[in-house]
Amino acid sequence: MTSPSTHPNEARDRAMRAAGIDPHRVPEHVAVIMDGNGRWAKRRGEERVFGHAHGVESVRATVEAALESGVRYLTLYAFSTENWNRPKDEVDALMDLLVKTLVQEAMELGSKGVRLRAIGDVASLPAACQAELERVKEGPEGEVHLDLVLALSYSAKWEMVEAIRTMMGEGLKPEDILPSTIDKYLQTADLPDPELMIRTSGEHRISNFMLWQLAYAELHFTSVLWPDFRKEHFFDAIRDFQHRERRFGALPNAKSS
Ligand code: IPE
Ligand code: IPE
Ligand code: MG
Repeated sequence: MTSPSTHPNEARDRAMRAAGIDPHRVPEHVAVIMDGNGRWAKRRGEERVFGHAHGVESVRATVEAALESGVRYLTLYAFSTENWNRPKDEVDALMDLLVKTLVQEAMELGSKGVRLRAIGDVASLPAACQAELERVKEGPEGEVHLDLVLALSYSAKWEMVEAIRTMMGEGLKPEDILPSTIDKYLQTADLPDPELMIRTSGEHRISNFMLWQLAYAELHFTSVLWPDFRKEHFFDAIRDFQHRERRFGALPNAKSS
C-alpha cells in the first residue's frame, strides 16, 4: 500500500497551499471564455489571427494549471455560433489552427491523462476538424485526470433549442420535464455544472455561453487578454473563488452575518 507520505496528491496539495490555494476547495469544473486575441494582435500592429495563434500557449498553460490544481473538468469556449459571422479569412484561419493544434497536442495531452472532447454543433465544422475530434476523443489509455471540453460552434441558445427539439421528438409530456430532465438533454449531460467561470479581456458578459449551467457559478473577470493568460492568472481565479461565499439562495453563514 502507498504510504501517505508518498501519495501523488500530497506534493500537489503542498504546492497548492504554498500558492495560497486550499487543495480541498478547488472547483471541480471551471469554464473559460477565452477572449481578447484580436485586441492583443492589434496592439502589436498584427492581424487578428496572430492573436489566435498565440492563444494556443495560453490554452497549454491553462490545462497545466488545471492539472496542477486538481480541477477535474475544464471547458474552453473556443468558437461561438455567432463567431461564424466573422470574415471568412478569420474563420478559416481559426479552423486551420484548431486542426493543427489538435494534431500537435493530442499525444501530449493523452500522456498527461487529459481526455478531450467537444460540445457544440460539431457537424457544422469543416470535415478535417470533425475527423481530428473523432480521432482524439478515445482519450488516454490510463487514468483520466482532466476532461478538457472544447466548446466549438457552441452557443447556449443553440444547445437549448437542440435539447427542446429532442425532448419533443421523443414525445416527452410537459409534466415529464423537470430541471434535471433539461440537464440530461443538454450537451453537458454528463458534466457537473461549472462552479467557476473565468472571462478574460475585461468584457463583463456571458456571450451566449452555458446560460443554464452557469446558474450558480462564481464569475471571475480579468482584464488580461487571452494570449497573455498564464498559470498564475488561473490560480488568481481559484483564489478569488475560494474567497467567495456561495449561498444558493439561502441565508448567509452565521459567522459572516
Ligand atoms: C477570442 O478573441 C477568440 C474567439 C472569439 C474565437 P477575439 O477574437 O474575440 O478577440 P477580441 O475580443 O476581438 O479582442
Ligand atoms: C465569446 O467571445 C466567444 C468566444 C470566446 C469563443 P466574443 O468575442 O465572440 O464575444 P463578444 O462578441 O465580445 O460578446
Ligand atoms: Mg472577443
